Amino acid sequence: MKNPDTQTLRAYDKSYVWHPFTQMRDWEAEEPIVIERGEGSYLIDTEGNRYLDGVASIWTNVHGHCRAEINDALKKQIDRLEHSTLLGLANDQSALLAKRLIEVAPAGLKKVFYSDNGSTAVEIAIKMAFQYQRLRGERFAAKTKFISFRNAYHGDTIGAVSVGGIDLFHGVFRPLLFPTILAPSPYCYRCESGGTGDETCDRFCLKELENLMKAHAAETAGLIIEPLMQCAGGMVAQPPGFVKKVRELCDRYDILMIADEVAVGFGRTGALFACEGEGVTPDLMALSKGLTAGYLPLAATLATQEIFDAFLGDYSELKTFFHGHTFTGNPIACAAALASLELFAQDRLLENLPEKIEYLEERFQEVRNLPHVGDTRQVGMIGGIELVLDKELKTPYPWEQRFGIRVCNEARKRGIFLRPLGNVIVVFPPLSITMEELECLMDGIVEAIRAVTGD
Ligand SMILES: Cc1ncc(COP(=O)(O)O)c(C=O)c1O
Repeated sequence: MKNPDTQTLRAYDKSYVWHPFTQMRDWEAEEPIVIERGEGSYLIDTEGNRYLDGVASIWTNVHGHCRAEINDALKKQIDRLEHSTLLGLANDQSALLAKRLIEVAPAGLKKVFYSDNGSTAVEIAIKMAFQYQRLRGERFAAKTKFISFRNAYHGDTIGAVSVGGIDLFHGVFRPLLFPTILAPSPYCYRCESGGTGDETCDRFCLKELENLMKAHAAETAGLIIEPLMQCAGGMVAQPPGFVKKVRELCDRYDILMIADEVAVGFGRTGALFACEGEGVTPDLMALSKGLTAGYLPLAATLATQEIFDAFLGDYSELKTFFHGHTFTGNPIACAAALASLELFAQDRLLENLPEKIEYLEERFQEVRNLPHVGDTRQVGMIGGIELVLDKELKTPYPWEQRFGIRVCNEARKRGIFLRPLGNVIVVFPPLSITMEELECLMDGIVEAIRAVTGD
């Protein structure tokens, strides 16, 4: 059946769809682009216009849109089995994928618990950490709290919001949330102590973290961190050694380390997992987004043998992890993830990244010199460009003026799709992006910033 024309689709969207993180009154005034196809690094709308996908369809796409190999794997799987529950049954794809994930994950992670999205992967990690401490015995029963970082984002369900630290998103829900022990964000450009993150910095953030751990170890079950980069908080890169030190501190104070690699996992930082960059194995690791290369909703929470073993016992002891989702281990989604992991090897994707990462570094140096760019931050293939009203004083543009959105709208006129985080322009392309496309992306971003800031 042929689609209705663009105007009709727009009318349907405006009549019936409630968009995420969107003031719908503004949306009603827009003429939204309606995407109907994807090809490599490009999204294509109903009018045939092509947009370079500068944010990998919200940090999910890895190998480009509509990769034949993943499409074929999905078609094969659909003809065999669309879904079967993991309650009382296994399925071939979820077993194969769990084995592969454990083979490639940081050494020491041994078990895979499936769910559907990043928020649930985080919820599961939180609940596992909480119950694990209970299962260890009376001596650890007080370990019920979590340490989280200011400016963190771990998803939008209530538990995930509780460990989040972005007031703009989370403030209104505060009465619904459980309290956490909040550590300073390692946001070097806007460090709470005035530090800079370089070799002269005395790492106020780590000292504060250790003070909090010292004071609260007996009541803390776990710590949750977005390793190497707080993404939704504005692409805030952590100083080198930060994650390693957090691991050491967690060990010292007997606190579980939960790594939320929902955004940074699957090659984004240059290694398959961000924790690898600092030689760290977390106790629990949350994965989603890039897990299926952006094809389908699937998530996984990986756990150590020690955590898994604590849940073993006689049925009547009620040590079971009572948690599950209807589509847990969906075989179509697992087939996409398996095909994606094969493509990592086939395309030598990670081996080909250093050239792209270096190129981004060069372009970011140039961008940093623009009069209204306060800071640029990059970890591997992830970047953030923070726009400021006054560079000297680091004064932000007032958020109501929506400078980030204005830059993205300019970029769109140049055939580039971006989505900002406040005043931060996000660079998060599919890992398969070509050097020419990367050049086009960065040229477009520079032009768009200049057009909006008038520089
Ligand atoms: C680090 C991190 N954790 C969790 C989530 C939540 O994932 P989802 O939107 O799939 O629930 C996100 C989403 O952006 C994220 O960046």
